[in-house]
Amino acid sequence: MNYFRENIEKAKGYQPGFQPKQTNVVKLNTNENPYPPSPAVLKALAKIGPELLRRYPDPVGDEFRRAAAKVNAVQPENIMCCNGGDELLTMAFRAFCDENRPVGYPVPTYSLYPVLANLQNCRAIEVPFDAEFNLPAKLAHTGASLTIVCNPNAPNGSFISVDELASLADELDGVLLIDEAYVDFAEENCTALAKELDNVIILRSMSKGYCLAGLRFGYAIANTGLIEGLMKVKDSYNVDAVAIAAATAAIKDQKYFKETTEKVKKERKELTDKLRQSGFEVPDSFANFVLAENKNYKASDIYDKLVQRNIYVRYFDLPGLSNKLRITVGTKEQNDKLISALQQIVSG
Ligand SMILES: Cc1ncc(COP(=O)(O)O)c(C=O)c1O
Repeated sequence: MNYFRENIEKAKGYQPGFQPKQTNVVKLNTNENPYPPSPAVLKALAKIGPELLRRYPDPVGDEFRRAAAKVNAVQPENIMCCNGGDELLTMAFRAFCDENRPVGYPVPTYSLYPVLANLQNCRAIEVPFDAEFNLPAKLAHTGASLTIVCNPNAPNGSFISVDELASLADELDGVLLIDEAYVDFAEENCTALAKELDNVIILRSMSKGYCLAGLRFGYAIANTGLIEGLMKVKDSYNVDAVAIAAATAAIKDQKYFKETTEKVKKERKELTDKLRQSGFEVPDSFANFVLAENKNYKASDIYDKLVQRNIYVRYFDLPGLSNKLRITVGTKEQNDKLISALQQIVSG
């Protein structure tokens, strides 16, 4: 018997990056932050008592909304908490897309977008980036109800300017969701567009810049009309009490956040330089990962040889990516282990 809707039956589902069980590995495959979260997070967790767990959480996470509003210079009503940035993407597909309302996005990009389009049974209009990952002019004219631009883009780390995204939002008839999961490692962000324009939603994640991938917390920034509409789509208690407390502590500790993201940016530069010196082509990245290619070696072979050495990076067998490896920026020690393994592999 086939109990599922036809598109679910046919769907492959999202393939998350491999999570090795061993701990003695160099894990540079899922863009986690290599540093621990702020000590303020652990203090907040230590304070959690039975009463907080017995009761349902605040359905909208006002404590976090106030803290995030302050950091982004918006009002709490412009913030919506979600169970990871991924949940905001699910909500946006549910809210704006259906059989007659397609989604549009440039490719290659985050591989979750087509999976969600398929689950929602909406057409995905994929507009290819050029070789330099410039914003494709055609993206403004797809007729999509929801357009998504990942900025910095995954899996290459390129950055599209705020002005270009402002023009895109102006030209579109539908909603523009700017996926800023990695923006904490860039120099600018698009918060101003969410304040000024009525069709822009910004996605933020606490997984990357705030070192909390295990917590599952992200948030949206948008005008109150869009936030109120998205609230109708969310689960009643989409973020739990423990997560609200921990994420609030993390976002309040801006000093730790700035120090940590600066460390990642410094290591990103060193990793990029060393990869280039080792014969890899690596475009400049504004995220916490780099995309590397060595034209003399098959990326899939390098990947296998790294796995034999307990080093995990990400390989996508997809058009435009099949000879490239996406490497998360790790600690100096992790990056050095990777570089010496790569040097052995390409000289051997
Ligand atoms: C481009 C992009 N957007 C959004 C997310 C969602 O992040 P999270 O659900 O961990 O907040 C990710 C996670 O890897 C991502 O790569």
